[in-house]
Amino acid sequence: MPQRYLVTAALPYANGPFHIGHIAGAYIPADIYVRWLRLCGEDVVFVCGSDENGAAITIQAKRENTSPKAIVDKYHEQLKTGAEQLGISFDIYHRTSDPLHHQTAQEFFKVLYNNGAFIEKESEQLYDEKFQQFLADRYVKGTCPNCGYEAAYGDQCEKCGSTLSPNDLINPVSTLSNETPILRTTKHWYLRLGNYEQWVGQWIEDQQTVERWKAHVYGSCQSWLKQGLDDRAMTRDLDWGVPVPLPNAEGKVLYVWLDAPIGYISATKALFEERGTPDLWRKYWQDQDTKLVHFIGKDNIVFHCIIFPIMLHAHGNYVLPTNVPANQFLNLDGEKLSTSRNYAVWLLDYLRDFPEQQDVLRYTLTSNMPEKKDSDFSWEDLQTKNNSELVSILGNLVNRIMVLLHKNFGGTIPEVFPEPRTIIEEAAFELRQYQRNLHYNVDQFLQQYEFRAGLQEVMNLARAANKFLTDTEPWKLIKTNPDQAGAVLTIGVEVMAYLAVYIEPFLPFTAEKMRKMLHLSDDDVAAVKTNKFVAEVGRELAPAELLFHKIEDSTIAPFVADLRHIRAILQTAEQTVTDNTSNSQ
Ligand code: 2FM
Ligand code: ZN
Repeated sequence: MPQRYLVTAALPYANGPFHIGHIAGAYIPADIYVRWLRLCGEDVVFVCGSDENGAAITIQAKRENTSPKAIVDKYHEQLKTGAEQLGISFDIYHRTSDPLHHQTAQEFFKVLYNNGAFIEKESEQLYDEKFQQFLADRYVKGTCPNCGYEAAYGDQCEKCGSTLSPNDLINPVSTLSNETPILRTTKHWYLRLGNYEQWVGQWIEDQQTVERWKAHVYGSCQSWLKQGLDDRAMTRDLDWGVPVPLPNAEGKVLYVWLDAPIGYISATKALFEERGTPDLWRKYWQDQDTKLVHFIGKDNIVFHCIIFPIMLHAHGNYVLPTNVPANQFLNLDGEKLSTSRNYAVWLLDYLRDFPEQQDVLRYTLTSNMPEKKDSDFSWEDLQTKNNSELVSILGNLVNRIMVLLHKNFGGTIPEVFPEPRTIIEEAAFELRQYQRNLHYNVDQFLQQYEFRAGLQEVMNLARAANKFLTDTEPWKLIKTNPDQAGAVLTIGVEVMAYLAVYIEPFLPFTAEKMRKMLHLSDDDVAAVKTNKFVAEVGRELAPAELLFHKIEDSTIAPFVADLRHIRAILQTAEQTVTDNTSNSQ
């Protein structure tokens, strides 16, 4: 019986397009994992969508001088297109402005309300008199009480990652008017997190015995729990979002971090509605045999490991996450990526500038994935990974085999008599071992969410195959012993079939090209998976196609220069701020 999985990738805010930090953090790992599970024949549903509510959207609308609706429509399309073009294989990419989501979030809220999960409280909140608006979340900036960063948002400090409330900020300033806000009384519904503290602590501990969470994920849960969980407002004074479904709650919407994870549920509902089996979503969310796995960046850990599980538990009837394999951050040339300062590599720009080279980006980001600690992207590294690994190892291997077969055997698998085949099989002993163990080894790594190592394992088979070709020299054998050359190339085709199948979760576009070159059928793929594939005599191969192309220094130079230029501008700006500050002291 296949294992049932529900895999989610963080819903990106529809206030801007994807950059490579998002992609390396959540979407590529989730996609590799899902493609691997599908390859293993598991029952998987993979959901995502745009996060279209909250202050992140309304603030962007103000910045672009347009409406929140125009903002979410524009960026939803860009996010969806970017993910599709990179081959992120969501079963559905939904959006939280959809009426089905509003209805699902409101129903969920009402169940929590009826179960006594909330407390209604009046409190004093920051208010901008000029704009006559309460300053929730990102509408206020100030100094982080934990690390002293001067531009922390009211909901989160981007420097130290701590989650904040606007009232925590030192020297708060309204991002609307740039003025100091006043305090004004307002009413909100608070999730009584303290009531669930013991339960969630125990649940996290229990999880460790079943399935070890990543050390940094477990560590951040521990530090949250150590601080103690306070009541947390789950509604906001805002005119954009999901209205609070209670009487006397006019002008109030659900807090975006309450409704966004419910977006995973509404996306699943929408998927099964599309498939004509509207009730089937329940099996994935409510049957305890489901393994629910959330792929996120590290800034989302608390919401997925503490708050959302508390919501699911307080609601009852829902499965809880099995694992939350959050990644750390990807830096860019040693500096933090920043959307607001435009210090980023944007996915759609990459896809435009490097057409048909999606897998080069997937490969670079996977080999450098910030799985356990922050990692770094640079254009030079992308160039090296492309030229020294993709072109030299995988591309070269495939090209040598295909070209030799076309040149010398009419592009078909030649007949090879038993004796030469036996001699060559002996030379291929080590290679065959790699090939036989590949499935098991990749599985071991991917089950631990170690995507870098999983990819290397597949590349090691290509390395071993190159060594086999170098050892046996079929280009020389053609003249001296064509039978043996045929045997080498037949083994080469068999390795290519394994590579085509097992590289697919990582490099789907390349896998597709390799399948086409070998005319691999679904039965062939099944044979590879059971270690039974043989390249039968007479099989015709398609023409050789270059899988990768060398990236020249001159191609990469303008991108390197661009980043250097932005960094210089930013450094000058920061220096000016520091100088002005010290002059005024
Ligand atoms: O950090 C973010 O970009 C959020 N939009 C992630 C939401 S994840 C989930 F809860 F939907
Ligand atoms: Zn901080």
